[in-house]
This record gives sequence, C-alpha cells and structure tokens, in this order.
Amino acid sequence: MNLKQMAGYEAALEIKNGQIVGLGTGSTTHYFIEKLGIRIKEEELDIMGIPTSYQSFFLARDSHIPITTLDEHDVDIAVDGADEVDPDLNLIKGGGAAHTLEKIVDYAADKFLVIVDDSKMVTKLGQTPVPLEVIPSSSRMVLNILKESGASPQIRMAQMKDGPVVTDHGNFVIDADFGLLEDASKLEKELNSIPGVVENGIFSNVVDMVIVGSDEGVKKIR
Ligand code: 5RP
Repeated sequence: MNLKQMAGYEAALEIKNGQIVGLGTGSTTHYFIEKLGIRIKEEELDIMGIPTSYQSFFLARDSHIPITTLDEHDVDIAVDGADEVDPDLNLIKGGGAAHTLEKIVDYAADKFLVIVDDSKMVTKLGQTPVPLEVIPSSSRMVLNILKESGASPQIRMAQMKDGPVVTDHGNFVIDADFGLLEDASKLEKELNSIPGVVENGIFSNVVDMVIVGSDEGVKKIR
C-alpha cells in the first residue's frame, strides 16, 4: 500500500453509518472514495456523498456511493487532500483546480479531515504557489494586481501547453508565488477581495484532523 492509500483508507474507517460525507478531489481522496464505496457495500451502510468536482462525482458514482447535494443535506464530515499542511493545520489546496467547490464543502462540514502523505507536511506554507480560480476575462487585471503586490503569478496551462486549464466552473487558474506566507489567514481574505477572483487555495483555521501516511505508519494530527 502506498502512503496516499494508507491515509485514504484510514480516513474511510472514520466515517460512521448515517453520515453525509464531503468527497474531496485528487489522487489521495481517490483511495478514500474507493474504500468508502467498499465499506458501504460490505457493511450495508446508509451513507451519502457530496462530491467536490466532476472527478469525485464520477468516482463516487463508479464506487456506488449514493450522491446528494448541499441543497439537500448538511455535511457531517468532509475528507479532502492538500498540497501543503503547516504545523497549525492551515493548507494550500487547488493542485487539481478544484479548490472552490472543495472550500465550499469542506468549510460547510461539521468535521474536516485532511489526508496526505508526509511529503505535504511543511514548516511554513508557500513552498508551492497559491492557486486562484479567476473569471477568464479578469485574468490580465488579476495578474497585474498580483504582480504589483510582489507575487509571481502565471496562468496554469494544460499539460500539452495548448491552452489554459479550465475549472469545472469554466474559469482559469492563476498560480501565484508569494514565497513563504507570513500570515496565511490574512492573505486568504485579501486575495478574495480582488475583483475577478472566485476563490483562492488557502484554507486557514478550518481543519479538525490530518491523517498522514508515512513509512512509519499512519499518524493522526489534531
Ligand atoms: C485539488 C486539491 C487536491 O486535494 C490536492 O491537490 C492534493 O492532491 P493529491 O491528493 O492528488 O496529492 O486540492 O484541487
């Protein structure tokens, strides 16, 4: 079992019968969703999932997890991956361009559980750029504002470099390198005040527990 799988499978064991579960996006949550589907079938559990992306929607459907929406249900627990986790359990997310809906579902949850391998644990956020989902027509203006603030921003391009990454909501993603973040919570609020920015990938003061897969086994940090 690889480290992401260890964390994902452990998180699936945290889910209780009757819960409404936010289903995060990415390669680590892939294992979580897979294992949750197996548990629902084998233990005949009454659990429903709220996906945070088309990716997790399709995976949940293939894993036979009944699906619901935020319109119909509150979220008991959300399980999601992260690109960076700091010692105060603040996050950078959005490596999969899904951070807007992830943030809506993860912040709505009574309990938010993050699953990562130990390469994601950092002493300070900002080793990777902060993703911002932006309205396409605003992207030049947003790039200019970010540059003026001292960041190095760029529009995220698709792997073939033949065009921009487009989010599930039809928007672009700007990855903004601010260097190490002195005050992640302040930056999270400031970035969302730029016209055209839909949501940024800093998740501060919201995580209840992190499950870390490491060579020494699974660790739980609260
Ligand atoms: C998607 C995310 C992912 O949760 C994050 O990028 C981690 O992905 P992975 O589990 O594949 O390493 O925020 O927008």
